[in-house]
Amino acid sequence: MHLSTPPLSAYTKDNPLPAKLLENRVLNKDGSGKDTRHLVVDIAGSGLTYSVGDSLGVYASNRPQIVEEIIELIEATGNEPVVPPRLTAAVSLREALTTKLSLGGPTKKILETFAAKTTEVKQKAQLAELLAPGAKELREVFLGQREFIDLLEEFPGVKLAPQELADHLRSMVPRLYSIASSPKLYPGQVHLLVAPVRYESNGRRRYGVCSTFLADRVTRRKTPIPVFIAESHFGLPEDPAKDIIMIGPGTGVAPFRAFVQERVATSATGRNWLFFGDQHQATDYLYGDEWKRLLAEGRMARVDLAFSRDQPQKIYVQDRIRETAAELWTWIKGGAHFYVCGDAHRMAKDVDAALHQVIIGQGGLEAAQAANYVKQMKKDKRYQRDVY
Ligand SMILES: Cc1cc2nc3c(=O)[nH]c(=O)nc-3n(C[C@H](O)[C@H](O)[C@H](O)COP(=O)(O)OP(=O)(O)OC[C@H]3O[C@@H](n4cnc5c(N)ncnc54)[C@H](O)[C@@H]3O)c2cc1C
Ligand SMILES: NC(=O)c1ccc[n+]([C@@H]2O[C@H](COP(=O)([O-])OP(=O)(O)OC[C@H]3O[C@@H](n4cnc5c(N)ncnc54)[C@H](OP(=O)(O)O)[C@@H]3O)[C@@H](O)[C@H]2O)c1
Repeated sequence: MHLSTPPLSAYTKDNPLPAKLLENRVLNKDGSGKDTRHLVVDIAGSGLTYSVGDSLGVYASNRPQIVEEIIELIEATGNEPVVPPRLTAAVSLREALTTKLSLGGPTKKILETFAAKTTEVKQKAQLAELLAPGAKELREVFLGQREFIDLLEEFPGVKLAPQELADHLRSMVPRLYSIASSPKLYPGQVHLLVAPVRYESNGRRRYGVCSTFLADRVTRRKTPIPVFIAESHFGLPEDPAKDIIMIGPGTGVAPFRAFVQERVATSATGRNWLFFGDQHQATDYLYGDEWKRLLAEGRMARVDLAFSRDQPQKIYVQDRIRETAAELWTWIKGGAHFYVCGDAHRMAKDVDAALHQVIIGQGGLEAAQAANYVKQMKKDKRYQRDVY
C-alpha cells in the first residue's frame, strides 16, 4: 500500500498562518527619499517550510480610516450583514470592507450603476460621457486615477445598499513578497524587504494596501498577519559548484540575500556576483554592511553597484553589466546562472537587452544567435527572473 507523506503544515493559501511580526526596521538612512523595510515574520512552530527563491503570501487588511469613510458615505452602520463575492456566509459590512474586499480598481460596472441611479442632470451627463462607446480611453484614465471611495464622494446622492456595494467590489487578493532569508540561517523566521507604496492621485494620498499594512499598521508581536508560502520556480542551481550572477536593484535584492545566505550555510563552492542599485550609496545601500562583510570574507566574488542619483547622469545596473561585459561573458560561458529580480516594467527589460548586448559583443554572435543563446539559457534554467 502506498502511504502518502503527510503535509508538513496545516497552513496554506486557503488556511493562512496567523503569524506575528518580530521586526520592522527602515533600512534607508536619514536623508533618503526612500522607505524600504526589513521585516521579520515569525513562523516558528507552524510547520511551514520554504526554499530560498520562494515568496511569502500575505493577506492584508484595508486602512480602517477608508473603511469608516466608505461606511459613512453609504450611510450605513457597518454592522449590516453582507455576503462578499465568492463567499457563502455573511459577515458584517465593516468586516467585509476590512479584510474581504478590494477598495481600489473601480470598474465600468460601478459607473453603469451610478448612471442608472443618479437623478442629477450634471452627474448623468458626466457618466454618459464616460460610458459612451468611444470613450474607453477617457474612462480608463478616469478610473485609473480613482479608488472606490472617490466615486462615492464624487457622486453624492446615489444610494448604494451594503450588499449592492459589496457586489461591485472585487475580492481582496494576497500579495507576494520575495523571501530575503535562508531557513538554514534563520530557522522559524521569514525576512522580507518591503517598499511601502505611497503616492497621490486625484488629490488624495494613496496607500498600497498590503505594503502599508505591513509597514504601518501591524503592531509587532500583536497583530496577526495571515501568511502562506508561495513556492517558486525561482531558485539556486542544483549544482552548488555553479557560479551565480544576481541582478537585484531596490527591493529586487531580497531573494539574493536569501540565495547567498543559503550558499554560505551549505558551503557551496560556486562564486556569487551581485549587481545592486538604488538612489544614493550613502542612504540606500540595502543590506550594505552585509554585502561588505561577505565580500571581505571572500563569500561574494563581486558586488557591482549602480547608484542612480549620486551623479548628474543616471547609472543603472544595466550600465554596470555593460561595463563588466568581458568578465560577465567568461562567467556565462563557464555555465553561470543569471538571475534578475525587481521591477518588471523597465529594469527587467533593460537588463535583458544588456544581457543580449554582452553576448553579441563578447561572444561575437549575431543578434539572432544571441537570442537563441538566451533562449537556451532559459531552457536550461540558467536565466531566471522574478519580476513584478
Ligand atoms: C513574485 C513577487 C515578489 C514580490 N516581491 C516583493 C518584494 O520583495 N518587496 C516588495 O516591496 N514588493 C514585492 N512585490 C510586489 C508586492 O507583491 C505588491 O505588489 C506591492 O507591495 C504593492 O502592493 P500593495 O498592496 O501595497 O499596493 P496596492 O494596493 O496593490 O497598489 C499598487 C498599485 O498602486 C498603483 N500605484 C503604485 N504606485 C503608483 C504611483 N506612483 N502612481 C500611480 N499609481 C501607483 C499601481 O496601480 C499599483 O499596481 C512582489 C510581487 C511579486 C509578484
Ligand atoms: N509592481 C509593483 O508594485 C512595483 C515593482 C517595483 C517597484 N515598484 C515601485 O517602486 C518603489 C520602490 O521600489 P524599489 O525600492 O524596489 O526600487 P526601484 O524604484 O525599482 O528603484 C531601484 C533603483 O532602480 C533604478 N531604476 C529606475 N529605472 C531603472 C531601469 N529602467 N533600469 C534599471 N534600474 C532602474 C532606480 O533609479 P531612479 O529611481 O533614480 O530612476 C533606483 O536606483 C515602490 O514604492 C513601488 O511603488 C512597484
